[in-house]
Amino acid sequence: WIELNDNDVSGEPTACRVCGGPVRRCLDLGRQPVSNAFLLPEQIADEAFFRLEVGICTRCTLVQQLDVVAHERMFRPDYPYRSSTSARLRRHFADVARTLHTTELTGPDDLVVEVGSNDGIMLRTLSDAGVRHLGVDPCVGAGDTAAQGGVRIRIDYFNERSAAEIRRTDGPAKVIFSANTISHIADLGSVFGGVDALLTADGVFVFEDRYLADIIAHTTFDQIYDEHVYLLAVRSVSEVAAVFGFELIDAQRLGVHGGSMRYTVARAGARPRTARVDQLIGEERALGLGDPATFAGFGARLDVIGKDLVALLTELRSAGMRVAGYGATSKSATVTNYCGIGTDLVPVIYDTTPEKQGRLTPGAHIPVESAARFTDPYPDYALLFAWNHAEEIIEREREFRDRGGRWILYVPDVHLL
Ligand code: TMP
Ligand code: ZN
Repeated sequence: WIELNDNDVSGEPTACRVCGGPVRRCLDLGRQPVSNAFLLPEQIADEAFFRLEVGICTRCTLVQQLDVVAHERMFRPDYPYRSSTSARLRRHFADVARTLHTTELTGPDDLVVEVGSNDGIMLRTLSDAGVRHLGVDPCVGAGDTAAQGGVRIRIDYFNERSAAEIRRTDGPAKVIFSANTISHIADLGSVFGGVDALLTADGVFVFEDRYLADIIAHTTFDQIYDEHVYLLAVRSVSEVAAVFGFELIDAQRLGVHGGSMRYTVARAGARPRTARVDQLIGEERALGLGDPATFAGFGARLDVIGKDLVALLTELRSAGMRVAGYGATSKSATVTNYCGIGTDLVPVIYDTTPEKQGRLTPGAHIPVESAARFTDPYPDYALLFAWNHAEEIIEREREFRDRGGRWILYVPDVHLL
C-alpha cells in the first residue's frame, strides 16, 4: 500500500478552514482508505491511505477533518455510489422536489441548480414537472444515469468558475439545492462563492447533511470517513454562512441517513430568520456540541462498540457460524478498517449496487457480491453495515429472519435483531 503524499492531502490545519480560529484535535480513527474506492485484486498494490482525524474549531465550532483527501481521488468518473438504491430515499427526494416546487419554484421560468445531483434522484421529479433545472456533479457514471432519466446535467465541480458559467448561459438560480455533498467540499469558500455568483437576490441555498447531534447521540462513528470533511450542526453552519455574507434562516430535522438536518441559507438580510434556528442552537449548546470534551466521551463509546463487535464476530467464527456483511457502504470502510475486520471475520458483503459487485472493499478487501446471492444459502448472521436503511432491508429480506437468521447491528451499540 502507499501513503497519500502531500499532493493528495491538504495537511493538518493549524487554523480552522473557514474562520481561521484554533482547531483542537479530538478524534483519531487511524489509517483509512478512500471509502468509495472499491478495488479489483490487481489494484491492491496501489491502494492509497490517509489519516482520519477530526478536530473542532474552538471559535466557530465547525467539526472538521485534519487531513483532507483530494477531490479527484474521491469523486472519480467511476464513483460507485447511487442514491436511488434506496426506496426510502427515492420517496424522500420526491417530497423534497415537490416542496421546492410549491414553495420556491413558483415562477414559470425559475431555475433550480443541484450540487451533487448523483443519479438524478431529486431533479427527476422537477424535470418531469417541466421545471427549468441543472444538476452539477463531477461523476460521469452517476450523471449518465441522471441524463437517461431526463435530467439536464453538467459534469463538473460546483465552484465560483462553474457557477459563473451557469449564470451566463442559464441566468440566475432561484434555488440551489444539495444533499449530502456540501460537507464533502473542503473549500467552503468556493461553495459560497459559487452560490453568490449564481443565486438570485432573494433566492435560497438549501442543503441537507448528516447532523452532528445525531452522530454523537447514537455514536454513529462510521459517518466519519474521507468524504465527510465536515460534521455540520446548526451553530457551525450559521457561523460559516455569516463568514461568506449569507445567513442561516431556517433549519429542519430529517430522519434520513440516521438523522440529518436541512439548512436553508439566504443572502444576509434578504429573508426573515425563523425562531427554529436559535432554538436549535440553544439545544446544541446544552448538548455540548461545540465542546471538545463531548468528543472524548464519543471516542470512549466508539471504542466499546469496536471491541464488542470484534468479540462477537470472533465468538461466532469460533462457533462455526457463517457471517456475512450487508451493504458495502462508505461507512463500512471506517468500521472494518478501524476495528481490523477482514475476510477472516466477514468473508463477503452483499450489496445491490452493480458498480460495487465483483470488487473488494477498500482497505479491508472483503469481496462484494450481488445482494441477490444473499439467499443462496442464507448466512447464520448478517452484519448490517447499511443500518440507515435497516427498516427497508430487514423488511425486504424478512425471509432471512423467518428462517432463523439474525441481524447484527453495531449502532448505537452492538445488538442482534
Ligand atoms: P449508504 O448507506 O451510503 O446510503 O449506502 C447504502 C449501500 O447499501 C449502497 O451500497 C447500496 C446498499 N443497499 C443494499 O445493498 N440494499 C438495499 O436495500 C439498500 C437500500 C442499499
Ligand atoms: Zn472556525
